[in-house]
Amino acid sequence: MDPTTGSTVRIAGLVRQFRTGPERLTAVDDVSLEIAAGSVVALTGPSGSGKSTLLHLIGAIEQADRGTVTVDDVEVTALRRAALARYRQRVGFVFQRYHLLPALTVLDNVIAPVLPRRGRADHAARARELLDAVGLAGRERALPAELSGGQQQRVAIARALMGEPRLLLADEPTGNLDSTTGAQILDLLLDLRDRHGMTILLATHEPAIAARCDRLVRLGDGRIVEDVDLTDGEDPADTFDRASRLRL
Ligand SMILES: Nc1ncnc2c1ncn2[C@@H]1O[C@H](COP(=O)(O)OP(=O)(O)O)[C@@H](O)[C@H]1O
Ligand SMILES: [Mg+2]
Repeated sequence: MDPTTGSTVRIAGLVRQFRTGPERLTAVDDVSLEIAAGSVVALTGPSGSGKSTLLHLIGAIEQADRGTVTVDDVEVTALRRAALARYRQRVGFVFQRYHLLPALTVLDNVIAPVLPRRGRADHAARARELLDAVGLAGRERALPAELSGGQQQRVAIARALMGEPRLLLADEPTGNLDSTTGAQILDLLLDLRDRHGMTILLATHEPAIAARCDRLVRLGDGRIVEDVDLTDGEDPADTFDRASRLRL
């Protein structure tokens, strides 16, 4: 495994059900998927198709009822307690609504998830570097409410990178942003992948975002209904046509 290219993700026969009263709803229904190290995969599909649940299962935020998730050589679905906690710290997660802590400064939001490991001072230098990398140098002492939506998402991305993840899971990271800002956030993610080596799986409704990924996996009712390689024989600059053909 090349450490510069991100994690390989293998999903086999994954099932997640929810009980809603007497009914049982299958949110992820027998999903099998292999994701190459270093690729950027768009996870699409209508609301309720299981995108978030699948991301939560891969990030071990939720537990599968059946099937396996294997990241590099670790079978995540078999991990218990301490090992699971270590795995979660190594995966980056970015959410649609940023989930920043409003009373903490930008710098402390970035440091927060790794605080249990050593003290704040040990992490501040790296957090500053990451804020610089996401274009927020000089805003370390600001509060989240003083930033635009795009800036808040940049803070959330810097926070997700604190654990040096080789796998980044992003749940509609541009869903709350206008299209220009959304495109800039995707630029940032693609650039981080190129510079640091990461595998990125991102849920999105937006054709313009999906079109710039390496691969599109579309869910419908918890199942994979389409899986397309977007790197095949196309000029990567010519994403407008492709976006209009994707019909998300
Ligand atoms: N905690 C939960 N309890 C009950 N049902 C849930 C829960 N989380 C998700 N679901 C259901 O699972 C299905 C898939 O949801 P979700 O993964 O959020 O889809 P998406 O992210 O594509 O909108 C939906 O029908 C949703 O209502
Ligand atoms: Mg969702």
